[in-house]
Amino acid sequence: MFTAKLDVSDRVAIRAHFLALSARDRYLRFGYIVKDAAIERYVDSIDFDRDAVFGVNTDSRNFEGIAHLALDGKHAELGVSVLPLYRGRGIGSALVSRAAVHARNRDIEVLFMQCMSENRAIIRIANSLGMQVVTLGPDSEATLSLPEAGSLSCQRKKSMGQTAKNYEAGQLHA
Ligand SMILES: CC(C)(COP(=O)(O)OP(=O)(O)OC[C@H]1O[C@@H](n2cnc3c(N)ncnc32)[C@H](O)[C@@H]1OP(=O)(O)O)[C@@H](O)C(=O)NCCC(=O)NCCS
Repeated sequence: MFTAKLDVSDRVAIRAHFLALSARDRYLRFGYIVKDAAIERYVDSIDFDRDAVFGVNTDSRNFEGIAHLALDGKHAELGVSVLPLYRGRGIGSALVSRAAVHARNRDIEVLFMQCMSENRAIIRIANSLGMQVVTLGPDSEATLSLPEAGSLSCQRKKSMGQTAKNYEAGQLHA
């Protein structure tokens, strides 16, 4: 599995990925049921110079998984989605791992993921990567304080073993 860093030329395919998500998945990804027009505005607004977007594309023309890492000073917020047909193969875990390494390499200190408390899959990913998950009713926030580069290397190896079973060694470099 290869996690590619996407650029502005991928905007059309990124849009197709989000539009393919069901209302339920859009709710889990964005926290509310996002209509098509809002998806299009969101994708059009992605700033590829400031943020980082990663995609996985193994056997289809569209991206099966997308992670958007929004950078803001020393903080970053991550959103991730995988098309239903491709879930349970480690794509979500690989994208979160890749985004965490990218954030660390850009001196980001804290990585956030907003998620619904009912979203067992993303909370499992967060836990397996050592994120602290705080639940406040229906909403949860997963936080990862990014360690020094040496520590992250250790964590990266651990997460590779635990969650991203098909990871290839070289792909973690941002
Ligand atoms: C969350 C999501 C990205 C996970 O993608 P994925 O590619 O299936 O993730 P992985 O294959 O890496 O699996 C993640 C872990 O969750 C577990 N999992 C999957 N579905 C689960 C469920 N319903 N309940 C509990 N655990 C579940 C998997 O077994 C796996 O754990 P393991 O590695 O210990 O076996 C995907 O389900 C999705 O896109 N959901 C809709 C959008 C969303 O919820 N985004 C997150 C908010 S930002």
